[in-house]
Amino acid sequence: MLEISNLVKAFGGVRATDDVTMSFAAGSLTAIIGPNGAGKSTFFNLLTGALKPDSGDIRLDGQSLVDLSIGQIVRRGIGRAFQVASIFPSLTVEETMLAAVSAHHGHSGRLGQRFPLPSTLTHTAHCIEMVGLTSKRATLSANLSHGDQKLLDIALALVLEPKVLLLDEPTAGMGPEERWRVIEKVRELWETTKITVVFIEHDMDIVFRIAPSIRVLSYGRVLAEGTPQQIRTNPAVIEAYLGTEHEAAA
Ligand SMILES: Nc1ncnc2c1ncn2[C@@H]1O[C@H](COP(=O)(O)OP(=O)(O)O)[C@@H](O)[C@H]1O
Ligand SMILES: [Mg+2]
Repeated sequence: MLEISNLVKAFGGVRATDDVTMSFAAGSLTAIIGPNGAGKSTFFNLLTGALKPDSGDIRLDGQSLVDLSIGQIVRRGIGRAFQVASIFPSLTVEETMLAAVSAHHGHSGRLGQRFPLPSTLTHTAHCIEMVGLTSKRATLSANLSHGDQKLLDIALALVLEPKVLLLDEPTAGMGPEERWRVIEKVRELWETTKITVVFIEHDMDIVFRIAPSIRVLSYGRVLAEGTPQQIRTNPAVIEAYLGTEHEAAA
């Protein structure tokens, strides 16, 4: 269980995160939506330790994360997919995965002990399989489609066996078909692993069809939370964000 209480982060006069309280049950799949500038990415940056909150608390399974370093937070189980696949264009999928593990190994003896080399190979193969890239493991990452690069980013996050996986707009910049392919894979990954998955997404068709639970942020605050049906018909959400189109579609 990931519990956030009264979280605040301001940039100058802007309260990007304004007294946010919410929790994510272990094994849940949740979408975070909200207009541009609502504070969605800032919220993720606070969860990963990339930003420190001005006040409030973040607890994973009862233990506070706010005073920990980014590395410690990762080791506690908060994982995030970065856009990194394309940083290693000349490496294959498999080499990228192994490079990531080795890089972490350099920073952390603990990881080296957890995954000595033979099991590292098994583990990376398993992570590649979880995102459906096994048939492309020898493909150069530069030659992957945009969607497959995103899946590789996710596989890189899975190497560290996160309890919680944070995905900031995983389908951004993709055409409709590829969006669905990637998000269905994320959903499948969630169903098979029961990792707690939280994703930010602006495509409402995807959100309403994929996420059993939705949280709406607006001006840094929690505007609403609920099921797709509850969010679709919530007057405050319609007014602040959805307009009438999705109400009609419900
Ligand atoms: N590093 C930063 N410095 C100053 N202002 C920031 C910074 N990051 C975000 N903001 C501001 O915080 C607000 C929320 O931004 P962000 O979290 O990126 O929103 P979203 O991801 O929902 O589009 C915006 O007003 C943005 O300009
Ligand atoms: Mg953002």
